[in-house]
Order: sequence, then structure tokens, then C-alpha cells
Amino acid sequence: MGSSLITLHGKDFQPYLSAAQLAEAVENLAARINADYAGRQPLFVVILTGGFMFASDLLKHITLTCEVVFIRVSSYEGTESSGMVQEVLGLREEVAGRDLILIEDIVDTGTTMHHLLPRLLAQNPASVEIATLFFKPASLRHELTLNYVAREIPNDFVVGYGLDYDGLGRNLPDVYVAV
Ligand code: IMP
Repeated sequence: MGSSLITLHGKDFQPYLSAAQLAEAVENLAARINADYAGRQPLFVVILTGGFMFASDLLKHITLTCEVVFIRVSSYEGTESSGMVQEVLGLREEVAGRDLILIEDIVDTGTTMHHLLPRLLAQNPASVEIATLFFKPASLRHELTLNYVAREIPNDFVVGYGLDYDGLGRNLPDVYVAV
């Protein structure tokens, strides 16, 4: 991992988690999902855009027969959650009776999931679980059950590995934290 600061939109970030540390956490999570869903055929629902890199690595370690779809919900500008969640775009698949596993980059306030889950549950899936790369327990404002968390982090703003700061930083293989 680079040991130096990076600057995005004039804001400094320092190295926080290396690609190797992320890979280990993601592999461990995939192993748990493989064990828990043995014999089932889940439908993974990747939440764009932030979840793309995590999803790609996680799914490479999923040995289950499964389907993968992508949806988009947008709720975030700058470094603080706006609390507004827009429409869910892109879910055309039949989810009734399916075991859904949502793949999300980070659960912060939980607002995104709090709005998304009822919309999915209204379509009568057999089950819904959330697989998130990061979880910030200190900022959670809604009751949520998170069974698949790759890594809990403090209430700091992070970028890289899919996560952005106003559009920048998603391509970084390591994760950085705001200084
Ligand atoms: P929530 O609705 O507050 O849980 O926020 C979820 C969304 O906020 C995530 O999908 C991210 O897009 C964004 N987000 C929350 N914390 C961070 C962060 O530290 N870095 C980058 N994006 C974040």
C-alpha cells in the first residue's frame, strides 16, 4: 500500500486499509456466505456505484450457483449523508420467493437500507440479508440486522475500493481515511 497522503478535491486522506487486508476480509465473508447458503441459489443484488469493487471480489469467492443483478439508489453528497433516498433503479428481476443478498459498500446512518428494505420485502422474497464491506456502528440511526459485515470501522470518512469522495477515489485499490 502507498504510505503517503492522497489529495482529492483538496482534501487529504491517509492510508487506512491495504488491498491485502481488504482481500482477506472479503474472502472470509464469502466463506461465511458459502456455508450459510449451501444448497440454495441466492440472488445477489449489487448496489451501485460504491459496491462495484467489493461485489466483484466477493463474488469471485462465492462458490454457490447464483444470480447477480445491479441496482442503484442515491443518497449521498459530500462527506455527510443527506438523509434523502431516491428511487430504486434497475430491479427488473422477479424477487418473490428468492433469497436476496444485497451487496453494499458501506452502512453509515443506515438510511439507504432503511428505505430500500421495505421496498424489497414488499415483493415477498424468501429472505433478505445485507452483505456490506464496511459498517460504522457509531453512526447508525435505524434498526438494521447486519449479518454480513466484512469490517466495522469508526465514524470516519473513507475513500477507495469503490467508495468515493464527491466522485473521486473509487478506483483506488486501498482504502484511505480523511485526515
Ligand atoms: P447511509 O444511508 O447513511 O447508511 O449511507 C450509505 C451510503 O453513504 C453508502 O452507500 C455510501 O455511498 C455513502 N457513504 C457513507 N459513508 C461513506 C464514507 O465514509 N465514504 C464514502 N461514502 C460513504
